Amino acid sequence: MTNRAQWNSQQVEQVIASLKNSPGALLPILHGIQDTQGFVPPDSVPMIADALNQTSAEIHGVISFYHHFRTSPSGQNVLQICRAEACQARGSRELEEHVKTKLRVDYHATTLDQEFTLEPVYCLGNCACGPSIRVNDEIVGRVTNDKFDDLVDELTTVELGIMSLNSVASEKQS
Ligand code: FES
Repeated sequence: MTNRAQWNSQQVEQVIASLKNSPGALLPILHGIQDTQGFVPPDSVPMIADALNQTSAEIHGVISFYHHFRTSPSGQNVLQICRAEACQARGSRELEEHVKTKLRVDYHATTLDQEFTLEPVYCLGNCACGPSIRVNDEIVGRVTNDKFDDLVDELTTVELGIMSLNSVASEKQS
């Protein structure tokens, strides 16, 4: 994946060229772009539209229909909360209220410090251990409010730890 604030138009062109002739090419192209860039850059929409002989409005319509697709870079960490039935029966509704209050964001939004992007997801294949969430690539089960708070602290502490180590290192060098 590239730097969060940038995107690589050559990579996007490659994704489009490799998939544009396959049946139902639009969704695979959008997935491919998000997988390589972290989001679907608005400026890539005309490129997709040209390749598929569709209008930019049609491409925008599909992107906005599927909440999976982001049109801006995500935060440092992507948190997904399972909203499917088995996790709801195990308390995911209460958990999601806690998470939104704690992070002060709703779904499809990123915290002001760019640390966390919050997204809903519908089943992570971890139903017996709900409520389940995914933190970046890792699935975490039996998440309580306290466990979530610890997790956020841990992720934030790791970032701060790296920052303080870096500042110590630069102080030593100067
Ligand atoms: S219902 Fe939440 S992991 Fe399956």
